[in-house]
Amino acid sequence: MTRQAPPAAFVIMGASGDLTTRKLLPALARLHAGGLLPHGFAIVGTARSEMNDEQFRQLLHDAAPKGGAGWRDVISRSRYVAGEYHSPLTYINLGEVLREVDNACATGGNRIFYLATPPAVFGTIVERLGGAAMNKPSEHGSFVRVVIEKPYGRDLKTATELDHTVHTAFDESSVYRIDHYLGKETVQNVLALRFANAIFEPIWNRRYIDNVQITVAETLGIGHRGSFYETAGALRDIVQNHVLQVLTLVAMEPPARIQPEEIRDEKVKVLRAIDIMSSDEVNDYTVRGQYGPGEVLGERVEGYCDEEDVAPDSHTETYVAARFMVDNWRWNGVPFFVRTGKRLRAHTTEIAMEFKDVPHLPFKAMDATGLGSNVLVVRVQPDDGITLRFGAKVPGQDFRVRTVDMDFTYADAFTEESPDAYERLLLDALVGDPTLFIREDEVRNAWKICDPILDAWAEGRSPLAHYRAGTWGPKEADRLLAHEGRAWHEPCCGS
Ligand code: BG6
Repeated sequence: MTRQAPPAAFVIMGASGDLTTRKLLPALARLHAGGLLPHGFAIVGTARSEMNDEQFRQLLHDAAPKGGAGWRDVISRSRYVAGEYHSPLTYINLGEVLREVDNACATGGNRIFYLATPPAVFGTIVERLGGAAMNKPSEHGSFVRVVIEKPYGRDLKTATELDHTVHTAFDESSVYRIDHYLGKETVQNVLALRFANAIFEPIWNRRYIDNVQITVAETLGIGHRGSFYETAGALRDIVQNHVLQVLTLVAMEPPARIQPEEIRDEKVKVLRAIDIMSSDEVNDYTVRGQYGPGEVLGERVEGYCDEEDVAPDSHTETYVAARFMVDNWRWNGVPFFVRTGKRLRAHTTEIAMEFKDVPHLPFKAMDATGLGSNVLVVRVQPDDGITLRFGAKVPGQDFRVRTVDMDFTYADAFTEESPDAYERLLLDALVGDPTLFIREDEVRNAWKICDPILDAWAEGRSPLAHYRAGTWGPKEADRLLAHEGRAWHEPCCGS
């Protein structure tokens, strides 16, 4: 069933920023080209940069020139309001423009406020929207929703404070905390794989699975985001949100229905079941690293401390590896190893479910030297798909076995194009489907897992390890698995 967005004014706070031009505007253009945005649709930008409507329209055109028939009209109706986020005047002007847009574009009083600003002003914006009564529908039957980017807080305390502020203006049902990983097609496919097939779920547990590995590897460095990254680091930037979200989908119990609250309830149960590490455990089960100079994809790159806006003696981690235990009936004793890093050898995100070995191998040691454990790999990106790694007989007179791959790729199996993650999530927010957005208790439980790690690191536990750009990270991360007799799974692909 094709979903169609209702009429709405899409208000982007932080409209001159990188996220807007790189992700939001192209995603809106693609939705428009796909016929998923209605006639009564308008974009209103707000930011501190001085710009008039025409300049904003040019920015929109440059960032997203192709939106199909009628997209030029959407651009030509779009409006811009310059102003400081803390200034009530900004909201008076924005309210005025929104009233004009409602009249001119038949947006029905429906509004999405998308907070694509630096996180430090999320609370202020929400408060000011409330103060200007823009948090309430202006017409009977219309809606007002707020989409909030990550990072949502920088620890449990600040996330809880932000929640309090947000809830003074918006009911939880109108709050859409975005994590773009949930919009990725293959991440959602974890649910299809597990719950639409008879063959996987019976073996998706401690009896058959030895360990789970989640890798989010990037070849990119921090680009021009040095000042943000210095305050974040890889744990806050990727693990607290993307990695733990993926982990919940892998580990959760089957929901009775694919309904927002049922799925989110199950995800929260997983987060609550994750063992909170003591500071000794942080030392034993986490590794933090930082890249030095090296070569990535054939190009020489500088080390993290030489990047723009980074302190020369920075201790910010650009790499994290950790072992999490999910203490429940299904997963007791199964380690979930996660790793993420910048400037690694390849750009790849994948989930590898490594199965236990057979109880007895009836082949002579030499005949089975090329045989590894069975692994089911969900490749989230690039080359989205699934690989099953298993042992097969090598053709010939001898009886030798070796590991082979059975592959499914989205590109080969489907003619339909996968929507970009933002495209999917913006449409969800417009139609009012919060399934793939993060509920308040998910955020808080994720911080409860990460806070003790951050605290122990701040006390000097797990000293910062260094790795050469273009490798798979510090060797200390290998030891995390090696002392349990395990090893990182070699990613299937990556560019
Ligand atoms: C963002 C992080 O949330 O995700 C970035 O802030 C990171 O640091 C990005 O590069 C990775 O997203 P993707 O979709 O390219 O894997």
